[in-house]
Order: sequence, then structure tokens, then C-alpha cells
Amino acid sequence: MTSTLVLLACNGDAPTRTLEAPLGPTPLVDVDPAPDAIEVSVVAAPGRWAFLPGKPADVWAYRDGNVDGDEGRVPGPMLLGKVGDHVTVHFRNDLPEPTTLHWHGIKVPAMHDGSNVSQMAVEPGKSFTYEFTLTEAGTFWFHPHLRADEQIERGLYAPIVVRGEDEFPVDTDRVLVLDDVKVESSGQLSPTITSLDLMVGRQGNVLLVNGERLPRLEAPAGGRERWRLLNSANGAYFNVSLPGHPLRVVGWDGGVLPEPYGVDNLLIAPGERYELLVELGGAEGDTIELQTQHYDRGHALPDLGPRPLATFALTAPPASPAPRSPEPRGDVEPLPVTPDTPRRSFTLSEEEPAGPADEPRFFINDEAYPDVTRLVVGTGELEVWEIVNDAEMDHPFHLHGTFFQVLDQPHLGWKDTVNVPQKSTVRIAVDFDNPGLWMYHCHILEHAERGMMGVLQVGKAP
Ligand code: C2O
Ligand code: CU
Repeated sequence: MTSTLVLLACNGDAPTRTLEAPLGPTPLVDVDPAPDAIEVSVVAAPGRWAFLPGKPADVWAYRDGNVDGDEGRVPGPMLLGKVGDHVTVHFRNDLPEPTTLHWHGIKVPAMHDGSNVSQMAVEPGKSFTYEFTLTEAGTFWFHPHLRADEQIERGLYAPIVVRGEDEFPVDTDRVLVLDDVKVESSGQLSPTITSLDLMVGRQGNVLLVNGERLPRLEAPAGGRERWRLLNSANGAYFNVSLPGHPLRVVGWDGGVLPEPYGVDNLLIAPGERYELLVELGGAEGDTIELQTQHYDRGHALPDLGPRPLATFALTAPPASPAPRSPEPRGDVEPLPVTPDTPRRSFTLSEEEPAGPADEPRFFINDEAYPDVTRLVVGTGELEVWEIVNDAEMDHPFHLHGTFFQVLDQPHLGWKDTVNVPQKSTVRIAVDFDNPGLWMYHCHILEHAERGMMGVLQVGKAP
């Protein structure tokens, strides 16, 4: 169960590498034998997936187009690569409605970003080939960017792991995709969307880890593990804890941090990723429960107390434990922000429905997508964005195309999604190094789809 990068052979100065997959969703089959190229096939199609044991639901799922008879899974198959790989994704839409693939956190060329402004929708029965190069190591994900509140909820989301300089020895490397779904007793996804769902994001009644309710996961006792956590929920916040085990945060959205830090609970807003270094103390036969604790994200959502996510059942200690090397350290320099750095301000606000037949509306600077003014930034410009949350609930702010650094807080690192707590302000510094048309939006999908989304042009008009 080792997860370190395996060096197989060296021919000249280009080593041929085989990537060991982290535990979690099965990786997409790469049909390109070249060591620095990945060629995969993804199909979005209706499928079946059991959120409740023995009660399969009708879902929409990603399938591996290179695996005969693949039925699709929730989450979809993982895209696994390493820094420098050129990725070709042959995508086919077998859904009854248009969709796209968005590579959340990957620095793709704008034309391949899959957002509403950067590409035409892929119509039912049609295909599109996405191409990009992996430039950063870390944990990312892909999902549709059209009717995302519906399409992601129905099961269209999958993790991406990019290996690189940030590898460090562990006994087990895992991807843990967290989600919640609203499921009826028949096992089917509930078609009912309440006004509260629209206001705060779809409220699930079943918590999922890698598409399973309360999975029992085996882990070697005393093992050292790297956990890559991703929140793919429409609106749920996960506030993760492992009672009796302090958590060490070693990475974020954009890779490994220069300074790891400890927390008791780890708050993960929709769209965010966190990487933990976990030492699973205990003896063979012990179990450890991964939980999510209540977090007050506004609108007086009830405190449901601690809720279990998964159980880790400890097995025999690792036969040859990974070396206990010092904690990993990423190489991140603070962006050179000065008092003269240009600033912009974005105010997030919400409007309650006017009547029972009405939907809530969500705004950035009083504009609701698609009726928004396109922002224009020069390529290579450094800016400070001040995100002012004027609403009665938290909003996770996501920017496409590049990473940013969050100012006024103790930890340095690259993010692409940051939670902006209710009635507060978060400042971020961004170096706009990726030209094209991009989007920024709240990652509570019901909010993004009801206005809380904007358009940014970096560089000349395409
Ligand atoms: Cu993960 Cu624009 O989204
Ligand atoms: Cu929001």
C-alpha cells in the first residue's frame, strides 16, 4: 500500500515513471504509452449508482471510455498524472442535455476551461477534445459547468491527482471525496428542491465518502497517511475531525504548503481541497471514526451534532513502514503586494424570494450573471481583490485560470477557492498570468446558477 512515486528505469535524462494511484476512485486508463503524455476518454451518461446499499438510484455519471462495459461511477474515475504531462481528454456527451468539463484548479488554456464563457456547450451525442499540460502538483477535480447545481448533484464529478515535486513518503495515500445527497427511502435522488435548498445550496440527508455512505476503510495501525480531501457538495460544508487525532494540514488547493499547521477540526467549503498528514495511532482491530462537526455557515441552519463520515478499521502495522521524514514543505513565495498594488472590491449579496413561487437571487457588485460587466485585467498584472460578504451566510469564492494567496491570515499557500464568512471581508492577491476569458463565482452551485458569477478577461479580447 505504498504510494510513493516509483522510479522504474532511466533512459538518458528522461526517467520513465509509473505513477502509483492513491486509494480512491479508480484512475482513467491512459492509452498513450509515452511517459509525458496522457490520453484518456471520458463519457458522461445516465447510469445507476447505489447511495443506499442494494437500492440503486438513477444518476448521471462519468465512465471510462477506454474500459469496455464501464457503467460509470460516483465519483467518476480519477485523472492521475504528473507535472509536465500533456493531457488529451476525448470527451463524449451521452446525456440528454448539453454539458462541459471544467478542470477545477488546473491551469488550462482558457479555450479548454469548459466554463460558460470559454467554450460552446457540448451538445447531446457530441464530442470535444480537451488538451492541457499539468503544471502544478496537487489535488483537483473536474465537473460540468452548465446547470452545475443539477449536473454535479446527479453524480458528475471526479478527482484529479497530479504528482510532482511534492511527493513525500507515506504508507498510504488516499483521495477522500466528500459529498451529501438528498435520497428518498427508495434510494432514488429526491427531485424535490425546497426554497431552503435554493437559499443555502441543496441539503443532503446522506453523507458520502467516495460515493459511499459510511464506508469502512482499512488502514494499517500506526501508518502514516496522506489524505486528499475534496468537498464536491452543492452547498454542504464539511468540518472534519478524527477524534483523538490532531490533524496536520500540509497542502491546499494549489499544492503543498511551506509551513504545515495543526487543527482539531478542518473546515472544507464546497470546491476546496485540503491535504492532511495523518498518523493513525492505535492497535490492529481498533476503529477510528472520521466525523463532520457542526459549523455555523448562516441562515440559522440547525446544529446536527457530530455526524460520522467513514470508519477506519486498523489492520496490521505496515510491514515496511515509510520513513518518518520531516513534514513536507512546499516552495511558495508571497506575492509582492505593496500599498500601490491595484485593488478591486466585490460585494456578495443575496435577495430573498419575493413570493412563494419566486427563487432567491444572488449578486456580485449588484449584478447577476449573465447580466454582468466583463472585468478586464492586463496579463501579468498583480491585483488585490477584496471580497466583501454582505450576506447572512458564508460564500466560497472561486476564481478560474490561476491561483491566489489569501492575505491577512497566518498561512501561506496557493488557493483557487476561499470561504468568505458571512458579514466579513477576505482579501486575496492574484497574479493574472493566464490570458483569456475566465469566471469567478460562489461555489455553492445554486448561488452560482442564480447570479453569483462574474466574467473576467485577462489580456486582449480573444
Ligand atoms: Cu469548480 Cu467554476 O468551478
Ligand atoms: Cu454562495
